[in-house]
Amino acid sequence: MRTTTVIQTPATPGKRKTASDDFYNDVVKGLTAPQKYLDPKYFYDAAGDQLFQQIMQCHEYYLTGCEMEILSDQSATIAAALEKYAGTFDVVELGAGDATKSIRLLQQLHTNGIDYTYFPIDISGNVIRQLETTLPVKLPQLQLRGLNGEYFDMLQLVNGYSTKKKVLLFMGANIGNFNMATARSFCQQLRQYLQPGDLLLTGFDLKKHPQIILNAYNDSAGITRAFNFNLLQRINRELQADFNLSKFEHFPTYDPGTGACKSYLVSLEQQAVHIGTDVSITFRENEALYMEISQKYTPEETDQLAAQTGFKPVARFFDSKKWFVDCLWKCI
Ligand code: TRP
Repeated sequence: MRTTTVIQTPATPGKRKTASDDFYNDVVKGLTAPQKYLDPKYFYDAAGDQLFQQIMQCHEYYLTGCEMEILSDQSATIAAALEKYAGTFDVVELGAGDATKSIRLLQQLHTNGIDYTYFPIDISGNVIRQLETTLPVKLPQLQLRGLNGEYFDMLQLVNGYSTKKKVLLFMGANIGNFNMATARSFCQQLRQYLQPGDLLLTGFDLKKHPQIILNAYNDSAGITRAFNFNLLQRINRELQADFNLSKFEHFPTYDPGTGACKSYLVSLEQQAVHIGTDVSITFRENEALYMEISQKYTPEETDQLAAQTGFKPVARFFDSKKWFVDCLWKCI
């Protein structure tokens, strides 16, 4: 049994790299870093998708309700803005999830007689398969082409399929999964896949009373906790690891100064966790495994982000409590 930080690639030379090789490499890389972390994109296996659906229904988790209110009440205004700034376009959605929010907007675009194709992109194959079965029932006239993969790879594909202007949806609080510096490089990178005149509609969770934010990531039913632990279970199952869940505690934090809401799993004792047969990871007592960030913004900070990354803010759509905002940016 080694206790080194060497990253093993299970694929034999010449063999095609698989998704599970990526998963293995990312997990070993994260768990051997000085500040241990796991890439949150791996939360979303079949069980994770289901738990996240349940999180969105928790009364503490206000984000979905706020953005739903924006889409239900202001779809006509948003659609009008899209037409005004883009004319004709195709719609691409990053991290489409179950599309319950964007469906309002898609419906409105049909009502307005806009001829477009909807390209949902999601890292979860389950999500894309689900969308491809459910959306044609709900929106029979929808032209749909689902794409399962990483955002930028799939955007590249979309650019091959569509020559129209793009309206790119990045809803939820997906942008919040990056810290502010990473959000900047992400938006800059995103901008490279878009053309001047293309539009980006991004959801931002706004700074508000810190307790409200913390509660949203620490629901009393323990679903968020289960969601975090599910990733350890996934690693156990798919990478033959032996995380003992009872030796970790879910520890969510929110810093109102920076707007960073971070989740950790704290090791309750000194312990070793094995991944497959040749990696052993040591946790110190009270060592924190960093699981995810959900960055909160002020409206001004969203404008700054646009200005720093090649976009111009053209409209903002708030919910009635002003807890959440969907920002419309134009590529310059
Ligand atoms: N990242 C999303 C958010 O900020 C989804 C989410 C909610 C989440 N709770 C979580 C992700 C806990 C990881 C862990 O709202």
